[in-house]
Amino acid sequence: MEISFAEKVQILKLALSFLNEDVIITDIDGNVKYINKGSLVINPEERLFNIFDFLDSNDQKEIKQALVKHQEWCGEVFVKSQDKERSKKFLKAISVAVDDGRTFCYLFVFSDTCFNSGLQKKLQQASKMVSLGSIAAGVIHDLNNLLSPILAYSEILLQEISSEDLIYKRLKIINEAAYQARELITQLLSFTRSKGFSFIPLQLSQVVIKAFNFIRNFISPQIEMDLSLNSRGFIMADPIQIYQILINLCLNASEAIKDKGKIRVEVEDMDLKEKDGVSKYIKLAVSDTGMGMDEQIRENIFSPFFTTKEHGIGLGLFVVYEIVKMLGGKITTYSKLGQGTTFDILLPRVDKNLSIPK
Ligand SMILES: Nc1ncnc2c1ncn2[C@@H]1O[C@H](COP(=O)(O)OP(=O)(O)OP(=O)(O)O)[C@@H](O)[C@H]1O
Ligand SMILES: [Mg+2]
Repeated sequence: MEISFAEKVQILKLALSFLNEDVIITDIDGNVKYINKGSLVINPEERLFNIFDFLDSNDQKEIKQALVKHQEWCGEVFVKSQDKERSKKFLKAISVAVDDGRTFCYLFVFSDTCFNSGLQKKLQQASKMVSLGSIAAGVIHDLNNLLSPILAYSEILLQEISSEDLIYKRLKIINEAAYQARELITQLLSFTRSKGFSFIPLQLSQVVIKAFNFIRNFISPQIEMDLSLNSRGFIMADPIQIYQILINLCLNASEAIKDKGKIRVEVEDMDLKEKDGVSKYIKLAVSDTGMGMDEQIRENIFSPFFTTKEHGIGLGLFVVYEIVKMLGGKITTYSKLGQGTTFDILLPRVDKNLSIPK
């Protein structure tokens, strides 16, 4: 069946009328020659108008400049309606050559911003992550430089003071903390450079003791910290990952405790009956007697940049979640407003010699 030109035009017009977008074709001065429907803020009766009259002056200028150079313009615009109401739309505008290639018309496609907002949010998050990565690399580098004199001078002073001296003991704590910080920084540096982690068999309890003692130095003495170790089991992980999980969870716990309270860290073996048999795990749990969370907050805590704190970044739990996922584990949150919070993390238990996660 042959379709005539007129019929093709009819079909295309029909197809365009089904679109959710407003498609408008204008001449190079912006005078409207075609519009697929009247749903755009303008009055459908008055189809003869100039598109630029409906756009904010700043947008008008930018869009005209791009179109004159035959460049595509995309972005959010405010479209004015006749009753002076403004609505936000996403606009794609391009210049199209017609007939002999010397005449041009402009094509404007307006869509609801909500169609793109999900995507835009994701893009914004992705770009935040990228810039955060480079900022982090810079900050970590500076921190490393700042640590050098602390390490060097504490080392020199330790040699000059008698080990019986009270100052010696205090200096030793500074020196050890600086070494631990350097270890952490070196690991973080490798993370930002995407060198990745080195997965080795770790006796979880042993790493947790070290991390726990390290973190204790930063938590208010008003907060009681309790450690319970009931596993000799091994997991496949990089020690820095366990440090990172515990630091983030314990800091959150201490921030959730307003005044006095308790943080408890537990490690224990756990065998779970699952679909394909019994799976061996080690449970790492961090609980606090802090303010707890309501349902709405609990649902969002693992999203990047979700925070309820004035100066929070909202990355602590996102990082914990990503590490647990990387280690093939699971994380569960138990929390009630005013009644504290518990994070249970299950990590696959491995045979020390086999070193292969189950
Ligand atoms: N132990 C906890 N008790 C109560 N609320 C918590 C607890 N841990 C996390 N939250 C809630 O989850 C949110 C997200 O935590 P997350 O650690 O990801 O970010 P943050 O602590 O706000 O900022 P930062 O990136 O500095 O860690 C917190 O803002 C808080 O509302
Ligand atoms: Mg946090």
